[in-house]
Amino acid sequence: MCGIVGYVGKKNNCTNFLLEGLKKLEYRGYDSAGIAVANDRNLKTVKKKGFLRDLEPLINPERMKGSPGIGHTRWATHGEPSDENAHPHLSCEKRLALVHNGIIENYQELKQELKLKGHHFTSQTDTEVIVHLIEEHYQGDLYDAVKKGVKELRGSFAIAVISADDPDLLVAARYDSPLVVGIGKNEYFIASDIPAILKETRKVIILEDGEIVKAKPDGITITDFDGNLIEKEITEITWDAEAAEKGGYEDFMLKEIHEQPQVILNTMRGRVKEAKIILDEIGLPRELLKRLERMVIVACGTSYYAGLVMRNAVELFAKIPVDVEISSEFRYRPMLIDGRVLVVGITQSGETADTLVSLRQAKRVGFPILAIPNVIGSSAAREADGVLYTHAGPEIGVAATKTMTAQMVAGFLFALYLAGIKKTISDERREKFIKELLKLPRKVEAILDREDEVKQMAKKYKNYNNFLFLGRTYGLPAAYEGALKLKEITYVHAEGYPAGEMKHGPIALIDENVPVVFIATKGEVQDKIISNMEEVKARKGKIIAIATEGDKKVADLADDVIYVPWTFEAYTPLLAVVPLQLFTYYTGKLRGLNVDQPRNLAKSVTVE
Ligand code: M6R
Repeated sequence: MCGIVGYVGKKNNCTNFLLEGLKKLEYRGYDSAGIAVANDRNLKTVKKKGFLRDLEPLINPERMKGSPGIGHTRWATHGEPSDENAHPHLSCEKRLALVHNGIIENYQELKQELKLKGHHFTSQTDTEVIVHLIEEHYQGDLYDAVKKGVKELRGSFAIAVISADDPDLLVAARYDSPLVVGIGKNEYFIASDIPAILKETRKVIILEDGEIVKAKPDGITITDFDGNLIEKEITEITWDAEAAEKGGYEDFMLKEIHEQPQVILNTMRGRVKEAKIILDEIGLPRELLKRLERMVIVACGTSYYAGLVMRNAVELFAKIPVDVEISSEFRYRPMLIDGRVLVVGITQSGETADTLVSLRQAKRVGFPILAIPNVIGSSAAREADGVLYTHAGPEIGVAATKTMTAQMVAGFLFALYLAGIKKTISDERREKFIKELLKLPRKVEAILDREDEVKQMAKKYKNYNNFLFLGRTYGLPAAYEGALKLKEITYVHAEGYPAGEMKHGPIALIDENVPVVFIATKGEVQDKIISNMEEVKARKGKIIAIATEGDKKVADLADDVIYVPWTFEAYTPLLAVVPLQLFTYYTGKLRGLNVDQPRNLAKSVTVE
């Protein structure tokens, strides 16, 4: 997501701090950057699409001298990467400047209201409404205006605001998006992430949801959104800069695994309202969706497995047939699909060459294209007729973890949305599935609480060189993904296979040296999976099972079991992959490998 920095204090020129702070956030990925400073009762702003190295030459040191100041690196969510959409955003009178991290769900409504009141907008962002909203409330007291403004926002936000009329004040607030205050001597630093301020101070206050900070060179006050004072503790940061980038985790992969509960929320944000799925943002006509007869999903690697999960959900809810194709195969096959078909490309980077070519070919012969990318403004997003962003935030580790989770959530949302349009599911049933979707973040947290058990298991199995991952129906994509993760991060040979196919070949591999991981969660075919487990046991194979909380039957058969909470069968892969990610992570660490950058792999495969 975006990076935020801010400064108020004794320096009469904070531009250097802003730029240095933003540089420390570069590792998160971004598409544009900007800064604003108060100078001589005016605000000076520079912002630019691209990197900090594109912004820096535009900064005239004399003109941009000043304090307080705010800075931002943007990872686009609403509105493509462009100079206009870059932050800071200014109010109509250019007396207020604001940076924001997060997503404002009700920005359309607010924008309409503010336009009627005469506000003029210059960007396509959701962020710009916040600065106009604060301007609307502003009567000479910035803190008061922010306090009133934030109460009208729905969604997630960390904001920092300065005013040309109050050159000694910085106001910041947070809701569902991180923000910290660094404490210096007669100076204060604001940042979305600790690395940005570590060079200046190690004393920080971590803001909680619903808190506003009013910072002046001579002190800060922190209140809730009603203005009640809050006493906060000062935390002394002991991490080094590298650990701070990883939020205190040893590796990005682990950090990203732990981000998944929040990612699920972010992908659902603004899209689930009163037990309905609202996805009109994707830009495909409802009439087209209503008449849809079939879907073809194209993707590679982990995204392909997320495609299998999406297929199962669409077939279950919207009741149309779905094919899932590996892009590098699809592109060379004759395009024989026919009828009212939607072609969907799932690609976190939005730049995978084979997926892009597959989408282009399908588009050329006239099929509507939906892209499900994570990166805003990526090629897939630009070329598709409709876009459903996953909003997982930048993924730094080469292994796809949180982006797959976000892709699965996007797939569930689309399936339920389509089912609503096609009326293939009763309101009551849809409501049940939506309610369960909302419980998934908590259920993933419960699995992450078991991290230590998985770590112990990795210790036990770390020296095995061959694994089988087996699942059936809804559980199968999780088996495929478990095998892929283990291969790419630990270089251990692992195969994902439909459990029912075991007898047709892979069973020959089974002996005490080949652990078999079963996705054995509760569901329609669980009895069949249990029979497959018996078959493995009879051949002295070692069994690791992913089972539903409290399932004794599976636990009795398995050598090791990891429990996941119950959920509807269609959602089980989302829970089942989490312990498998952890298992891979710890196996890789125990084997002394670089889990963030495995050999021979690139984060985005832009060549054939
Ligand atoms: O950017 P994409 O989602 O299109 O990437 C697809 C695959 O390259 C990617 O999922 C790859 O398999 C990862 N290494 C999985 O961890």
